[in-house]
Amino acid sequence: MSETVETIWQPRPQPFPVSGMPASVRIYEVGPRDGLQAEATLVPVEVKAEFCRRLVDAGVSTIELTSFVSPKWIPQLADAEQLMTELALPETVRQVVLAPNQRGLDRALAAGAREVAVFVSATETFAAKNLNSTVRGALDAAAPVVQGAVAAGLPVRGYISMCFGDPWEGPVAPSMVADVAEQLVALGVTSLSLGDTIGVATPGHVHAVLGEVLARGIGVDSVAMHFHDTYGQALTNVYASLQAGVIEFDSSAGGLGRCPYAKGATGNLATEDLLWMLHGLGVSTGVDLDALARTSSWMAARMGNESPSAVVTALAAGRA
Ligand code: HMG
Ligand code: MG
Repeated sequence: MSETVETIWQPRPQPFPVSGMPASVRIYEVGPRDGLQAEATLVPVEVKAEFCRRLVDAGVSTIELTSFVSPKWIPQLADAEQLMTELALPETVRQVVLAPNQRGLDRALAAGAREVAVFVSATETFAAKNLNSTVRGALDAAAPVVQGAVAAGLPVRGYISMCFGDPWEGPVAPSMVADVAEQLVALGVTSLSLGDTIGVATPGHVHAVLGEVLARGIGVDSVAMHFHDTYGQALTNVYASLQAGVIEFDSSAGGLGRCPYAKGATGNLATEDLLWMLHGLGVSTGVDLDALARTSSWMAARMGNESPSAVVTALAAGRA
């Protein structure tokens, strides 16, 4: 029997646009921060810097680099200053760092931060677990950070965690999320990110939360969505958000990341899985899917584990 050479298709997303979708969206890459903050492995600062450079080379133009939080709470990011010194990313890359309090802002400004993110919770229990505070206390701690950053000419992102459910308190009313969103906007944040920290949202729920937030007069172009993929709903929740007009999505390369202070929170939606759907919808992102997947495989090897992303896994199998 003669041997035949099989041509095996290496699939890539085929663009089939759907009406009502945006022409492009911003990918807000959280891998270096949300991804690495909860990994048991302490990643050397040179590896973090190389990860960020590879992300930029893959076309990522917005990156959350690190956090200026207490190293007692997040030892994985204790090298924030060193990372900022090590990195010299192009000016065109939007680079964001987290700061929970005045001390964090002072450190961030001294390290040359260009954009700061504050983070509060819609629920009391998570405010206690994540910030040793209350919802009110966290907003009060965020106030001088927002004011100081704005005074320094920096944009400020305001995160809200537990927007769709809380492992200790259960369901979270959309009005609780909108109340906190309104207060962050009143403090002066320039954008918001609504976090499904434990990945429990479903599409109708996304419409309900966004509907309540937007009804408070907050523009949809200043709202990003931050989905963790615990129950496998993140992509369908992105689709619902796109229908509602959202154009910025948080995701992490290779699906790195959890939240150390939220029981049950697994990784963020993988950026590659998000790209597959967006590029399939004909929505442009500026990110090269193959280059990003290679970066995630490279990073997974540094971490000594496998990427949980379906797309990274499939593309790696195709390369093999
Ligand atoms: P505390 O223990 O109540 O505060 O923590 P404290 O003032 O007693 O500080 C404790 C120690 O930390 C002190 O040191 C401070 O000096 C020091 P000691 O006197 O014991 O030697 N400290 C700091 N050091 C460096 N930088 C600082 C800083 N602040 C205090 N900025 C605190 C309160 C807010 C500090 C703490 O709770 C904290 O750092 N929390 C951060 C937790 C965190 O980073 N969580 C993950 C990010 S949020 C997230 O992942 C959710 C998100 O992805 C969205 C979603 O998914 O929902 C954004
Ligand atoms: Mg998160």
